[in-house]
Amino acid sequence: MSDFTDGFWPLYVAIISVVSILACGWLLWAAGKAKVNVQPAGDNTTGHVWDENLRELNNPLPLWWMWLFIITVVFALIYLVVFPGLGSFPGLLKWSTRGEHQQDVTRLRDQVAPIYAAFSAQPVEALARDPAALAIGERLFMNNCAQCHGSDARGSKSYPNLTNGNSAWLGERTAEHIVQTITNGRTGMMPPMGAAVGGDPEISELANYVLSLSGSPYNEVKAFSGKARFAVCAACHGVGGKGNKALGAPNLTDDYWLHGWGEAAIANIVKNGKTNVMPAQAPKLSAEQIHVVAAYVLSLSGNNAPAAPAAPAVSPGAATPAAAPASRTP
Ligand code: HEC
Ligand code: HEC
Repeated sequence: MSDFTDGFWPLYVAIISVVSILACGWLLWAAGKAKVNVQPAGDNTTGHVWDENLRELNNPLPLWWMWLFIITVVFALIYLVVFPGLGSFPGLLKWSTRGEHQQDVTRLRDQVAPIYAAFSAQPVEALARDPAALAIGERLFMNNCAQCHGSDARGSKSYPNLTNGNSAWLGERTAEHIVQTITNGRTGMMPPMGAAVGGDPEISELANYVLSLSGSPYNEVKAFSGKARFAVCAACHGVGGKGNKALGAPNLTDDYWLHGWGEAAIANIVKNGKTNVMPAQAPKLSAEQIHVVAAYVLSLSGNNAPAAPAAPAVSPGAATPAAAPASRTP
């Protein structure tokens, strides 16, 4: 049924449709009745001549053509009674494209329901070894996660690389954490710490100390002075900078830099803090689908291997100088 905004237009459309069809019928009937001025020559011509000798005959329409015309008119009338087309009249069959789509959706849901039921009966860890589940999980990932985490799940600046080993994750790389993150989303929050650290020189010293934790190139003199300032960071990132998964504070001693690598990137996050949000996916995905896509994510890195490098920073507003990659390979 069409979505007219008020009662006038359906009526307007319906009247035009019916009148046009009836007019077609009338035209056929009237044309058959009309008297043509047949010439006295008695040769059944109308007297119209073109190109010197092309004369118009007054023959009746061929019968097959007549019937085709009548059938078309009757078909149009039957169609308008059975299918939607007459203003907002839904038609006797109550057929609609929307209804047909809904039927398709229900049919497909019914088809996949037993498959998902079988998957739900197994723990995520077991599904992560089941090729059938992983094939579906990969589809779900491509449709719902790839726009942020990348089609290879390696993420980009501020979007975590999900193929990393556990030590580079914000939370524990467990089925529980993954299911929970997909279902409810998550918000990573580091407060701005500039005031607690001091001015730019102090922040630069601290940043060099942070770089020293991961064996990155750093200025030794600055790092030495910066060490004491790390005390305010240790509350979340741990005394040794190894991070705290319960707080979502990342490990600063590895080679994975979610928000960009280098002194400038670290100084920026210290000054401005960072609020990083993954929206909850529960409104879009059913619990069964989350179960399966979580298995796919869990399968992406089956060990605690060193962090895989992230895609280079692409954000134009990145605080990192263009030359510095978001992550370095060891
Ligand atoms: C709109 C972008 C967006 C979408 C869509 C999205 N994510 Fe995320 N995801 C993020 C961000 C940003 C974070 C990091 C949040 C933080 O810093 O705490 C994240 C974090 C995660 C984490 C936690 C990683 C860790 O280190 O602990 C997992 C697991 C995850 N996402 C999986 C998924 C899956 C699976 C999907 C699809 C069903 C998905 N995400 C869809 C943006 C997104
Ligand atoms: C209240 C807890 C908290 C404190 C205090 C804190 N951080 Fe953070 N920090 C976080 C969290 C949480 C994140 C991750 C944000 C996210 O999910 O994207 C983070 C991220 C970072 C990152 C980005 C890491 C990466 O992989 O890109 C750096 C660098 C960092 N913090 C340095 C510091 C320094 C230096 C200090 C001390 C001045 C500090 N943090 C203090 C919680 C904290």
